Amino acid sequence: MQEVATPLTVASYRDTVRDEGFVAAEEDLLNDAVLALSLSKNLLLRGPTGSGKTKLAQSLAEKFRLPMESINCSVDLDAESLLGFKTLTAENGQTVVSYVEGPVVRAMREGHLLYIDEINMARPETLPIINSVLDYRRQLMNPFTAETIVAHDKFRVIAAINEGYVGTLPMNEALKNRFVIVDVPYLTGEPLALLIQSRSRLQNRELIDLFVQLSGDLVRATKLGELSDEAASIRALLDACDFAAYIPPLRAAARAIASKLEDEREQQLVLNLAESYFAGWTAGA
Ligand SMILES: Nc1ncnc2c1ncn2[C@@H]1O[C@H](COP(=O)(O)OP(=O)(O)OP(=O)(O)O)[C@@H](O)[C@H]1O
Ligand SMILES: [Mg+2]
Repeated sequence: MQEVATPLTVASYRDTVRDEGFVAAEEDLLNDAVLALSLSKNLLLRGPTGSGKTKLAQSLAEKFRLPMESINCSVDLDAESLLGFKTLTAENGQTVVSYVEGPVVRAMREGHLLYIDEINMARPETLPIINSVLDYRRQLMNPFTAETIVAHDKFRVIAAINEGYVGTLPMNEALKNRFVIVDVPYLTGEPLALLIQSRSRLQNRELIDLFVQLSGDLVRATKLGELSDEAASIRALLDACDFAAYIPPLRAAARAIASKLEDEREQQLVLNLAESYFAGWTAGA
């Protein structure tokens, strides 16, 4: 049985110490995403929760050396959160109205990467405000300043969508039409094993392979509708693997994967699957 290692400070470990960007399931995925941005196309990353969409957007921002402006869509997203707002400020003892730029305007003007996360969480009427930014016009009439903004040459747009997720609306067709779509599936097999090895605390290859197999089972169960989407998230899997370096893997899977699920039957299904792989294991290191 394995020796339990001493937990160091795990906080931020994954995204700082040994993070090497996005790992692509197939080469085409990365090629086509890079091509889309090279051709100034708007890129829509479509995939389930925790499949690496945000990580891919960050990797692309680095590759293209573009600072990233992010918008998180929700029903509260409005014109102000996209374009900015007017506010009162004091200037030389006088109160004046000044305009604070929003992320869309700033990204257009400075030539940054605009990342629109969970694009189908916004109300259908909100994002069409920026339709003209997303087509060949690449410009916008700013209602707050009555100024026409023409996008900088380097300005690029990436959006992410998790279709089918509870609370999401189908994406507006005119909006979807303005994007090139790249699907981002969960990693499986050897690339997933390498991801776990390089991004988690777990280094025991035998145990990593068992987690890869468990992950495959979880993905299949979500596709069959037996488990909700988040059960197969790579984010949760990496958490479980971090834990499994220090505590028995079955308990790690219970904490990081099973207990997040609402439905008790789903929790039990995850535990049964995990037990079939991890019975008899203590911590893996
Ligand atoms: N293919 C991958 N390459 C690198 N890291 C990955 C990959 N897939 C998942 N991850 C890791 O899993 C975690 C979740 O990834 P990320 O936040 O990018 O997912 P997401 O698809 O944006 O999820 P959500 O839909 O919930 O926002 C991160 O720690 C990320 O590093
Ligand atoms: Mg994300």
